[in-house]
Amino acid sequence: MSKPPADDLFEWAVTEALFATTASLFLTAWAGHIPFLFALIKLARPRNYVELGVHFGGSFVAACSAVERYRTETACFGIDNWRGDQHAGAYEGDRIFGELSAYLKANFPNAVLHRENFERALSRFADGSVDVLHFDGLHTFDAIARDFEAWKPKLSRQGVALFHDIAVREGEFGVWKLWETVKSSCPFMEFYHSAGLGVAFIGPDQPAPMGRLLDLWTSNDAFREFFRTTCEHLGRLLPGRLDPPGAEAVKHLTQRSQLWKLLWPITRASQAFRQVNSIGQKIL
Ligand SMILES: C[S@@+](CC[C@H](N)C(=O)[O-])C[C@H]1O[C@@H](n2cnc3c(N)ncnc32)[C@H](O)[C@@H]1O
Repeated sequence: MSKPPADDLFEWAVTEALFATTASLFLTAWAGHIPFLFALIKLARPRNYVELGVHFGGSFVAACSAVERYRTETACFGIDNWRGDQHAGAYEGDRIFGELSAYLKANFPNAVLHRENFERALSRFADGSVDVLHFDGLHTFDAIARDFEAWKPKLSRQGVALFHDIAVREGEFGVWKLWETVKSSCPFMEFYHSAGLGVAFIGPDQPAPMGRLLDLWTSNDAFREFFRTTCEHLGRLLPGRLDPPGAEAVKHLTQRSQLWKLLWPITRASQAFRQVNSIGQKIL
């Protein structure tokens, strides 16, 4: 019997990544997108990952975990002033930065944090050099538009940009508005759970596995819905999957994140309400 071509297992290889778990789950509103992040790192094998807005380190540590799991040798950079902003609120930046730095030193010694404003960090990266650029700073329209304009030139020819909070349309949140423009200019994927995630394939020379994922996403409705709902469900289950008795991850769940787990059903219900509401507003 002839062997099937290796790429017959592509969908399985993508799905496998969704079931992987981060080494430690720090308090974050980003948790629901961690399954997708693993798939992204596995397929794109980026040379570098730059995150604008790190806070406790939820998404950043997940990226480091994926890099380790898939041995992609991706250089991970996290940038934040650890001063908080009008959405994250004011917080104990020195303590959070200190704890995260110590955790990374012990677990992901190659990861680099820069404690400074995004604008100031621009000069650290050459134009056209960043493979995955994750925007998660202040979520007003003016702030995300400014961050995107300043950092877009840093994206490489295989560059992918991630935008958190594209599904939040209340108050001053304005990432959705920028996202409307971004997604009209390049291939994209989007998720609506955990406040929404936009994935913009801005670089014109995407690695073959990324091209294949995008192709499945755009041309195969069944795959897209399966992939999207699997990301959503696994993202929602993540905290529970990380805390069997004695698991290393438990040590890093803060008291607040335990509370967050209890409040999660309420958060979900209000997110669903907001989504229905915003869809309703669109239709009307
Ligand atoms: C939404 S939080 C990041 C969440 C994080 N990615 C996670 O996984 O939970 C936004 C962070 O961006 C930082 N921030 C906002 N604007 C900034 C700027 N212009 N320069 C540096 N840091 C900024 C804030 O201090 C805050 O910690």
